[in-house]
Amino acid sequence: MDDTLDDQHWVFGYGSLIYKVDFPYLEREIASLRGWSRRFWQGSVDHRGTPESPGRVVTLIPDTHALCRGVAFLVDESVFAHLDHREKNGYERHKTQLCLEERQQTVTGTFYIAAADNPAFLGDAPDPELARHIAESHGPSGSNAQYLLRLADALRDIGEHDPHVLNLERELLALTQKG
Ligand code: SIN
Repeated sequence: MDDTLDDQHWVFGYGSLIYKVDFPYLEREIASLRGWSRRFWQGSVDHRGTPESPGRVVTLIPDTHALCRGVAFLVDESVFAHLDHREKNGYERHKTQLCLEERQQTVTGTFYIAAADNPAFLGDAPDPELARHIAESHGPSGSNAQYLLRLADALRDIGEHDPHVLNLERELLALTQKG
């Protein structure tokens, strides 16, 4: 069965798309995606860093037993031009099955991932190192710290306690308090 009209699509946001909703949408619902984990492993040269000094933003990493919770938006096809531009630094669109939590319905949706073979991918590092990198990075969209703090708040708002994000938030706040 087709989940939406031909020109309407569900888009799954798991990072800044959750809290910076600068696009029109028809519906919004908390959703989850099986088999992926959110990680601050993607370099950002255009939003939270610069080409000389990339920041760190989230991507999704394949993880068989994981469940990633975020927000799904039902958007008109025309919104993809804006989203493709916004996510242009290494992210590509993929189709997936999403679970819309409130209506307990599985639908086909689109999400953006920055895969390990994209040129801006940075990969893993110990949490204190990730937090320090985030604390020191800035880009045209603002500080990298703000990206992390806003994401942690947005996840709390939907009742999601992502240990990776919360640990980094804790590390970042400890660094800021040390001055
Ligand atoms: C997303 O939010 O779904 C993609 C990653 C980002 O822009 O932070």
